[in-house]
Amino acid sequence: MYEETVKFIQDLYQTKEFLPLHEPRFIGNEKKYVNETIDSTFVSSVGKFVTEFEEMVAKFSGTKYAVATSNGTSALHIALKLVGVDKNCEVITQPLTFIATANAISYCNAKPIFVDVDRDTLGLSPSKLKAFLEEFTTVDKDRNCINKTTNKIIKACVPMHTFGHPCKIDAIVEVCDAYNISVVEDAAESLGSYYKGKHTGSFGKVGVFSFNGNKIITTGGGGMLVTDDEALAKRAKHITTTAKVPHPYEYIHDEIGYNYRLTNLAAALGVAQMENLPLFIDKQRELASKYETFFKNSNLDFIKEPKDSKSNYWLNAVILKNKEERDSFLKYTNDNGIMTRSIWRLMNRLDMFKDAQTANLDNALWLEDRVVNISSSVVM
Ligand SMILES: Cc1ncc(COP(=O)(O)O)c(C=O)c1O
Repeated sequence: MYEETVKFIQDLYQTKEFLPLHEPRFIGNEKKYVNETIDSTFVSSVGKFVTEFEEMVAKFSGTKYAVATSNGTSALHIALKLVGVDKNCEVITQPLTFIATANAISYCNAKPIFVDVDRDTLGLSPSKLKAFLEEFTTVDKDRNCINKTTNKIIKACVPMHTFGHPCKIDAIVEVCDAYNISVVEDAAESLGSYYKGKHTGSFGKVGVFSFNGNKIITTGGGGMLVTDDEALAKRAKHITTTAKVPHPYEYIHDEIGYNYRLTNLAAALGVAQMENLPLFIDKQRELASKYETFFKNSNLDFIKEPKDSKSNYWLNAVILKNKEERDSFLKYTNDNGIMTRSIWRLMNRLDMFKDAQTANLDNALWLEDRVVNISSSVVM
């Protein structure tokens, strides 16, 4: 089966050369817009493409406001700060995620708590979240959710839409609302994915996208924070741009801000990429459907979009029978020029987070041993 899989992927991409996991595609106005920024000299953090890119992403995701940032990690950091996460707080997230989710929590000097994922979505499980909150927390008279184990406030929850597949975000928001916990959606991987017809990233108080080189659209490096809250958006813009008070010639900064700006050069790339996003999504869904048909008659289980959702199928994945099979599949495909990767090592198993509080993580542990990502570049 491994041999047939390699052949199938080579046929899909019409090549026997090395195949990376996810390559960007520049088929539109990228060079034109980038050259325009060079000709205008506005290559840095001021320029029309930054605003245009923000407006396009806000419109596409159905949110009122969008603030561009240097990358998805910085957008997550700021999103957490904006909902009040600091050193006295804890933040619930899933153990099965890219490191940036947990890192952003640490940048706020807060502690992560890891709650299990669902097997069907690969994202945070609302039922496990509810069970954790019921057992370990209480809501005090000021409506703070207090962790009875540590006496700290659980301020935020960061669910993540793994590989572009939406998690059960409406149920997660409902549980968090009952405990006065702000939801920051890590939608870094899910631009173009919808849950019950609503775009991912638009359910929580703040949502975050990434435009890293491997994402469905890229600006080289870049991120975006989206929200419907005007005050929050204004503050996001302010602190991601060094907290400078507007003034015609003086430099006044009213708090410690960050230089998390996206450059106009990068935003030019982003605008051109956004113009092709609907095409990329269609192509990704076509590719996923071909994989689904191919893997139907195999002992590898192709991961399909969960119920009630429309996924961008950013990164395709299969589930192997066990860790041994996973390892031999990884070895065979990589030895034969097809780049495949195991899913992330669980956050709570990394040195930095090994002392973090966790609940029962059966699903995450099961998936960690079995999930492998396979070729997912847009087939042109
Ligand atoms: C789930 C998740 N969160 C956050 C990030 C961080 O984004 P960036 O690489 O743009 O900092 C990424 C991707 O890179 C991601 O996959």
